[in-house]
This record gives sequence, structure tokens and C-alpha cells, in this order.
Amino acid sequence: MADLTTTYMHLELKNPLIVSSSGLTDNLESIKKFEDAGAAAVVMKSIFEEQIESAVDNLFTQSANMHTEMHDYLNRYGHEEHLRAYLDEILKIKKNTSIPIIGSINCASIGSWAKFVQKLEATGIDGLELNVYVVPNDPNSSSAEIEQIYIDIFNEVKETASIPIALKLPPYITTPIRFVQKLADAGVQTFVLYNRRVPFDIDIEKQQVAVKNVISSPTEMSFSLRTIAMLAGQYECDLAAGTGIHDTEAIIKHLLAGADVVQLCSVLYKNGIDHISKLLDELNQWLDNHSIQSVSDIRGKLSYKNSSNPAAYERVQYMKVFSGIK
Ligand SMILES: Cc1cc2nc3c(=O)[nH]c(=O)nc-3n(C[C@H](O)[C@H](O)[C@H](O)COP(=O)(O)O)c2cc1C
Repeated sequence: MADLTTTYMHLELKNPLIVSSSGLTDNLESIKKFEDAGAAAVVMKSIFEEQIESAVDNLFTQSANMHTEMHDYLNRYGHEEHLRAYLDEILKIKKNTSIPIIGSINCASIGSWAKFVQKLEATGIDGLELNVYVVPNDPNSSSAEIEQIYIDIFNEVKETASIPIALKLPPYITTPIRFVQKLADAGVQTFVLYNRRVPFDIDIEKQQVAVKNVISSPTEMSFSLRTIAMLAGQYECDLAAGTGIHDTEAIIKHLLAGADVVQLCSVLYKNGIDHISKLLDELNQWLDNHSIQSVSDIRGKLSYKNSSNPAAYERVQYMKVFSGIK
């Protein structure tokens, strides 16, 4: 059997398949099943900035006339109360599993949540993923200002954290290569590409805003495939591919493009936790069929950096399809 071992976020992984953050990763029972099915690591369900902060805000509203000392107490208690269940679950998970567990925070701004990174770290988690989700709906905010939010959040967390930090980015960036370069200059060493924007929809009967298709489709994987191929080997950083990876073929494509690991979510919602063992078997089978000894032998083989003609990389494909040039 081929060697699937992979280094990611300074962690030694037995293979490149990681379970991404979702409702499937918020409890010991299912994480244990993922471990048994062969997952190399799991990213915990995110705790949301708003969940932490609103716990405090609610208490403040209820206690508007209280003494300042009481406010201080509630401030502390509110935070701790809300996080306790999350932290306790991680402690349980860490005690009962042996694969790396990566914590996750969903945030859109720097807030008091940043202080809790130390508490998360104290649970023994092996890394932290920052799922930064900024909705660009303010006409006064430029792209540069929005990009700066990502850098500021990372810097704030880096100040207190000593575990490896990954940044999960949105798919709609005009020049991902430039943005990643800026983030790498700021010290980001791990990128998760991409976080999926949940499709925006409108319910015409209720006449209200809704979401649709929470589960991704396989056609979405070209977003991450392209960016991973462009970035692989260009910076000293680890790359995790995510969104639309629904089968072994997509996993292999991302490895060829240069991903260190792939993150899986929708495919596991659709096919169940055990499906990860099938994907691993198929990956092993493909490597054997092609007499490839190790995943590192194919990683990045088709990246932009390893292309014999980088200037024409991808543009040639575009011309072939749309210009009639063969
Ligand atoms: C039901 C559901 C819940 C999710 N919750 C989170 C979350 O808490 N934090 C996060 O970073 N991503 C979350 N995601 C996004 C996934 O981690 C993943 O990035 C996204 O679904 C794209 O990957 P996929 O195409 O394999 O599903 C969630 C996805 C789903 C479907």
C-alpha cells in the first residue's frame, strides 16, 4: 500500500483526508466514528463569535440596573457559561480519541471572543481554524478594507495562541494569489480554500430571505482546484482544499494540484460517516494501479509552479474551448 502520510499544520497525519467543520463534528460520538473510519483529523463545529458575545449582551440587557461589580461578574460568567459546553465536549473528545482535533471559531470581526482562544488551547486541541465570514454588504467598505479584517483577526489571535492557526477563506476574492501573499507575509501558514458561501435565496411564499442547497455540488470544486494549483509551492504554507469534493477523483485532482489535505463535509452528509473508509480504499487503489508509492510523489505535479509553460497555464484551456484554437 502507498504511503499516505501527510504533514499539515505541523501535525503528522496518517492520510490527507480531514473532516471539515459542521454539525457532524460537534460531539464525541460522531468524531469517534470518523476516527474509526480512517479520518486523519477532524475540525470541530465552529463556535460563533455571536454565540459567545450575545450570551454576554443578553445578560447585560437583563441586568441593566445592576451594580458594576455585578456586571463584571456576569460578563465573566456569561462568557464562561456559554463556552463551557463547547470546551467540555472538546476535553471529552481529546481524552477519547487519538487523531488530531482542530478547533474552529467563526468570526467576522475582532471581538472579546479572541480572549477565549487561550481557553480553547487549554483543552489540548491540536490547532485552530479561523472561519472568517465577512459579508461584503457595506458600500463604504473597500475590498482592501475587508481584506484587512482577515489580517487583523489573524494578528489578534496569533498574539495569544501558540498552537498552529489555519485561515479559512471565502471563494470570492478578485486576486487570491495577492491576498494569500499578504496573509502569508502577516504570518499565516495554513490556508483552507475555500469556505462555501451558503447559497442565498428568497422564499416567495413567505416572502423572506432564505438559504438553499446547504449541501454542495461536485461542480463547485473547480474554485478550490484552480486556486490550489495557482498557489501550491509558491509560499511556505500548507493548503487544505474544500468545497465540492465528493469523490476520490476530486481528492486525487486536488493532490495533483498541490493540496496538502482535503476537507470533506457534504459528501459525508450524503453518504454517512463510514464513507470516508471507502474514499481511502479508492485512493489507495488508484495509487497502486498507477504504481505510485506515496501521495507526496503526486502532490503539486500539476501546479502552476510545476507547469512547463506557466504563462499559458489555464489560458490555453480557455482558448481551446472558446476560440477554436487547437
Ligand atoms: C450543515 C453544515 C454546517 C456547517 N457548519 C460549519 C461551521 O460551523 N464552521 C465552518 O467553518 N464550516 C461549516 N460548514 C462548512 C463546511 O465545513 C465546508 O467548508 C463546506 O460545506 C464546503 O465543503 P463541502 O463541499 O465538502 O460541503 C458547514 C457545512 C454544512 C453543510
